[in-house]
Amino acid sequence: MGRASLSTTEPATQERLLKIRGGNVLRGEITVSGAKNAALKAMAATLLTSEEVVLNNVPMLADVLSMADLLRAFGADVEVDRTLGRVQVRAKEITRTSAPPGLFRPTRASVVAAGPMLARCGEVSFYMPGGDQIGRRPIDVHLRGFQRLGANVEHRDDQVIATGGKLRGARIYMDYPSHTGTENLLMAATLATGKTVIVNASAEPEVVWLGQLLNRMGARISGLGSPILTIEGVERLHGVSDYVPPDRLEAGSFAIAAVMTGGEITLRDVREPHMLPLTEKLMEVGAEVWHSNDRMLIRAGSAYRSVDIQTLPFPGFPTDLQAPFVALLTQAEGVSTVHERVYEDRLRYTNELLKMGADIRVARIGDHGELLATSAEVHGPTKLHGARVAAIDIRAAVCMVLAGLVAEGETELEEVYHIDRGYENFVAKLNSLGADVEDTDPQM
Ligand code: EPU
Repeated sequence: MGRASLSTTEPATQERLLKIRGGNVLRGEITVSGAKNAALKAMAATLLTSEEVVLNNVPMLADVLSMADLLRAFGADVEVDRTLGRVQVRAKEITRTSAPPGLFRPTRASVVAAGPMLARCGEVSFYMPGGDQIGRRPIDVHLRGFQRLGANVEHRDDQVIATGGKLRGARIYMDYPSHTGTENLLMAATLATGKTVIVNASAEPEVVWLGQLLNRMGARISGLGSPILTIEGVERLHGVSDYVPPDRLEAGSFAIAAVMTGGEITLRDVREPHMLPLTEKLMEVGAEVWHSNDRMLIRAGSAYRSVDIQTLPFPGFPTDLQAPFVALLTQAEGVSTVHERVYEDRLRYTNELLKMGADIRVARIGDHGELLATSAEVHGPTKLHGARVAAIDIRAAVCMVLAGLVAEGETELEEVYHIDRGYENFVAKLNSLGADVEDTDPQM
């Protein structure tokens, strides 16, 4: 297919690719890495104290290195030990309350530096965060919360300037239980005077863990895991040493890969309650799942049944596993319906799956030219074949790799940097389970 025709448009320099040769069954055991979306927020939390914070089990990812640069720009001493997976931060003094736009753009998580900076310094100037192109991704919920805490918020193009001095506790109603929005406001409120109540807060496991970490640093937060969080402001927070929890999204991605290839794997360092939204659906497809302490064993069944999923905030089905799960659904018998209800543009990657022979019909519901929701029907099973495809975003990249694992022939994945942003040692881990994946230019 497209490879011969692509050669005419290929740049002269060799583009980095993942080459996935399909047909192997995954078997064996791997240890799940620390959670990206927990580690990045914990790194931002280090700005709340002048004492040292030591984070262990930090996944060595491009996004972690970007966050380290952002902390340094504010004046923190940051040491990253790639071998030990440890990040040590000491923000003894904050030397500036702004940083160049280029430091905010690589990740979405950069926005969560704003809350701690505002809490500690009474002002911050930051740029709209980057991250994956999966929808509009405004930060109005964060900014309204800062205003409720007494900050003045001004916009200059894509720069946001928040000022106002010491924050004051308040009741904040969040229109939507934004994951990073809750984290930002939680951190901002820890050092505010008096009591803050956040209503309609996110209950994502990474938010809960961040709250627990803040409590270990001396914060007084209650209600974690529920939609109502209460924060009694304290004068100061202190240093801490902690261990980043395992990445449920990495675990989920490998679990889906095992099922897709007809295999059986054991994942070490898994929290069962965090996996439930996925494992329920894997069992509906026909797989078998067992938990024992922090281990999870996943075995493919003899057939794959179609199932419907809709993504929702935790404990709903995670939007971050929607794309990998759709790869599996291409192999299921019948028609599966997928409703993406968190991001309005997170089904774009399905165009790439079509290039591999998938039968996916996407429906877009628009209003005045704007997309409001997306849903898709996945017709299966389809025999996939190798093709040259783009990664689109972190999770879509994994979807394409999973599809490649069951496709006939070789799949070439472009924009491999998306994988470096979210999955530690991804290729090595897959190959240790029996996959045949080659990275033409490993970066990390
Ligand atoms: N939203 C608003 N206004 C806001 C904030 C969010 O309208 O002020 C909307 C967004 O546009 C989106 C929805 O609310 O449609 C969900 O956004 P949320 O704020 O909950 O997501 P996020 O905090 O930007 C984090 C993760 C994402 C993950 C989501 C959902 C980080 C750095 N990112 O994003 O992770 O998909 O929560 O759990 O924690 C990834 O890791 O690949 C990734 C995209």
